[in-house]
Amino acid sequence: MSSNPFVNDVTAGLKPYPMEELSRIKAGLVKESKPVYDFGTGDPRIPTWSPVREALVKSLPEISQYPSVKGIEKLAVAHAGYLKRRFNLATGNDLAVIPSQGSKEAIFNIALCLVGRAGGKKHMIYPDPGYPVYRSSTLYAGGIPWPVRVSESSGWLLEPWELPDHVQQNAAAIWINHPHNPTGATAPLDYWKRVIDWCHKTDTILLSDDCYVDIYDTALDGQLAGKFPGGAFPPVETDPRPLNPLQLTTDRVLSFMSLSKRSGLTGYRAGMVAGDPRIIKPFLNARANFGVGSPDFIQHAAAVAWADDEHVVERRRIFSRRLATFGPLLKELGMIKAIPSTTFYLWAKIPPRFGDDDVKFVLDLARIGVIASPSQWLSEGIRGYVRFALVPEDAPMQQAMNLLREYLK
Ligand SMILES: Cc1ncc(COP(=O)(O)O)c(C=O)c1O
Repeated sequence: MSSNPFVNDVTAGLKPYPMEELSRIKAGLVKESKPVYDFGTGDPRIPTWSPVREALVKSLPEISQYPSVKGIEKLAVAHAGYLKRRFNLATGNDLAVIPSQGSKEAIFNIALCLVGRAGGKKHMIYPDPGYPVYRSSTLYAGGIPWPVRVSESSGWLLEPWELPDHVQQNAAAIWINHPHNPTGATAPLDYWKRVIDWCHKTDTILLSDDCYVDIYDTALDGQLAGKFPGGAFPPVETDPRPLNPLQLTTDRVLSFMSLSKRSGLTGYRAGMVAGDPRIIKPFLNARANFGVGSPDFIQHAAAVAWADDEHVVERRRIFSRRLATFGPLLKELGMIKAIPSTTFYLWAKIPPRFGDDDVKFVLDLARIGVIASPSQWLSEGIRGYVRFALVPEDAPMQQAMNLLREYLK
């Protein structure tokens, strides 16, 4: 029986984000005019590249009309241009692309289209720790969530071939998220090949959450500089940047991309889904029912962002600098072994003297003004880790580092 008869069990069972105590500590510090260094939410505050804002303002219509889920032509052209420049992918018979309102809604809604496919496959496999919507979307779609605990010893890679047979046989889809939130891990080419082989063998749809595919160390751009003139593209074997599995095959693969981290447009809600047309086409049909057409003025702004790479290089520089500033301290404190070369997250083990109580560690740290996220809040029961999202700017970050060093002395 539902604990709340007015809503269904999935809704009644959703865990509220357990931020209350943290918010109370934060509010107390602000009230006392004490500084707060917030490494909690992965939403960096960097001014929007001005051509994006200008495109949005210029496209505000005099008369408002419904947008289409298919999107405007200008956005389709910008998507295709980006996919070509970044991954050497050509849209056409084998590769279809549709816009999304950021990637969250598409990640949620795809489960409604995949759970129960192929005669009733219901399992949705995903990494733990991982983005929480993989689980909630599965539950709302009536599927069976199958979290797979990933660990440092296997490079934070999800290995579906190790799962029980009945799960492998009944998997509607598998979520892979590399670069990975929260660990910053990236998957090597051999891993992608093996996952794709497994998906083809078991008839599982590969859902690649590529939200962070453009957030990598600027040194990787440096390795490519000048080597591929005149539009030549580095082969996947030697390209040091994070891969998109669509570069290997489009068969049963969807990639979810977003401007949220690439261009810092979290508030615009702009993303795209690219992949196997046999899935994208029915997904688009379904989306006409979901109410997810982006306003045209957002689409115009998104087109400008997808068409440019320079502002993204600038963002990469900022995050690379922050990782190079904060990472060494966590290494020195023994909380991480290596500094990741992607994302702007550091997933750190709390020092042994705190046991595995990451929540207590985070609340104690918050009392001195440094806010982070404990692993128990970002996973399905993982203890003993903390995530720092490198959101504070250089000077406040230095101050936070001093506090952390002092606290852990
Ligand atoms: C792994 C991952 N996937 C997807 C998203 C959704 O991002 P958005 O909906 O802003 O594109 C996030 C946001 O933080 C994320 O961390």
